[in-house]
Amino acid sequence: MCGIIGFTGKLEAQDILLDGLEKLEYRGYDSAGIAYFKENGKISIRKTAGKVKDLRAICDDNDSLCGIGHTRWATHGGVTNANAHPHKCGNVALIHNGIIENYHELVSSYDLEKDLISETDTEVAAALFNKLYDGEHPLDAIQKAVPLFKGSFAFCIMFKNNPGVIYAVRNVSPMVAATCEDGSFIASDLTAFIQYSKKYFIVPEYTILTMTSEGISLQALDGTRVEPEFLEVNWDITAAQKDGYPTFMLKEINEQPAAITRTITPRIQNGLPDFSEDNIPKSLFENCRDITIVACGTAMYAGMVGKSLIQDMLGIPVTVAIASEFRYEKPVITEESLVIVVSQSGETIDTLEALRLAKTKTEKTLAIVNVKGSSIARESNYVLYTHAGPEIAVASTKAYTVQTAAFYLIACKLGLVQHKLTETEAHEFIQNLQNVSGHISEILKLSDDVERLTKRMLNASNTFFIGRGIDYTLSMEGALKLKEISYIHAEAYAAGELKHGTIALISEGVPVIALATQSHVYSKVISNIREVKARGAYVILLSMDEEITDTSICDIHISLPKVPDNFAIFESVVVLQMIAYYTSVGKGLNPDQPRNLAKSVTVE
Ligand code: F6R
Repeated sequence: MCGIIGFTGKLEAQDILLDGLEKLEYRGYDSAGIAYFKENGKISIRKTAGKVKDLRAICDDNDSLCGIGHTRWATHGGVTNANAHPHKCGNVALIHNGIIENYHELVSSYDLEKDLISETDTEVAAALFNKLYDGEHPLDAIQKAVPLFKGSFAFCIMFKNNPGVIYAVRNVSPMVAATCEDGSFIASDLTAFIQYSKKYFIVPEYTILTMTSEGISLQALDGTRVEPEFLEVNWDITAAQKDGYPTFMLKEINEQPAAITRTITPRIQNGLPDFSEDNIPKSLFENCRDITIVACGTAMYAGMVGKSLIQDMLGIPVTVAIASEFRYEKPVITEESLVIVVSQSGETIDTLEALRLAKTKTEKTLAIVNVKGSSIARESNYVLYTHAGPEIAVASTKAYTVQTAAFYLIACKLGLVQHKLTETEAHEFIQNLQNVSGHISEILKLSDDVERLTKRMLNASNTFFIGRGIDYTLSMEGALKLKEISYIHAEAYAAGELKHGTIALISEGVPVIALATQSHVYSKVISNIREVKARGAYVILLSMDEEITDTSICDIHISLPKVPDNFAIFESVVVLQMIAYYTSVGKGLNPDQPRNLAKSVTVE
């Protein structure tokens, strides 16, 4: 949450900052701002509530080679010009991603009240740096201030009298940096500067970074020199562009077949799952008595598919925990428990903290993560990277399907290692997984039909998603997707549970999206669907039947390609993503940037 960027070098800073902020905008779009050094050494600021395009409209100065920029997801204080970053206090201008939890105490301990004009925790940090700055030694000020902050932060700071220099320091909140012929870059993530450099490094926590047009240096808070550890990114700027699609979300929905193939292919050897290139030993799956999967939102729903699959195949208990709850519970985890954390960004703070807690109880932690080198990937004992490529739309689509595909590989490996699956069965299972991309490509051809059916959804104020077993977990993902990008209330229900209360909400015309892909509960779900249909619901049914014309069951039937039950979820979820997408677009909304949301939730 919140995107930050800094540049100093030979190029026009304002252009780089504005272009970079546009690429980072998915991290927050409440307000945007930049600060830059003028030729005379003074610091100028432009900022506004609104989007980067609104900021661009008020940026007219083109004479700076050094500056910082920010796009905000509001935490402390409303969406106003005053609360927008950068914040300037005396000789200091600063941008921040994170939350300073002890800002009240800092205000009173350092008598900062008189320096503040906004309602933000960030301005308190600017005031503190300014108070500790003697006008000549920025590093001293940073060394003194940083240990005083409680909470998460990624700061980029400019000090008056130090033109051309940007300082940065972080705790938890992500920050990557790079240097190339054109100058030095720092940002919340790579998308902001990948067109300039594919080599980058993650700024280590509690390390002060100093960047000039000549390069970047790092030092620990005690002054000792630190060497950056360079990484190389394996995708280029086109992967983070819309590539002819009207939105990132539609592009990402369509990228799913390729993303799944990229994720599973390197992990299949001779038709069986193989994690040797990931350095995940067989022992991780041996003696594993129980599994806890921890994640947030869509990643957690991918975990629920994993639970359903693994529990069925292995007969061992699998728990799925919401990371923000897990952290404050007393989870029952032993040394023999395997804890799997799932995260696209690898930076979700609750998932990261949940991982840290799990590591105090077991060494068997495995992270399913999309972003290379992210905090969760670095801290987990083992990592299985998904290869979805950058996911820019706020609503997760391709990350979900690749996370789910990763669970299929893990389930198969566990089944083999724990002798619950024969090699022949495993071969067949993996073959089915390899067929998934092709089936999704078939489903994507239904987009016009799905778009047409969503016309019926546009005026709905309530919708329901129902299913049993693995279809119920999908219902939750489908409902979340619809809520977040169309703002229509959507509730997911286990189909058999409706009549215990919620069916009271079904009335004439209420859309119910029903999933009936699991043969062992098929007839039960159909009975449940009839119950809502009899009460006037408008039923859209997804099943693997060739045709259903019985209007006492459904109004619209979407026929999915026939696959083994366990593999139907990949087809269904793509239909659910498209339902949410076309409903959002049909309502005239921007599915890429839904209100109140931002990607990569780095605050609790
Ligand atoms: C919903 C969505 C979120 C994320 C959740 C976890 O479409 O994108 O629910 O899935 O915030 O994010 P990661 O996977 O980055 O940990």
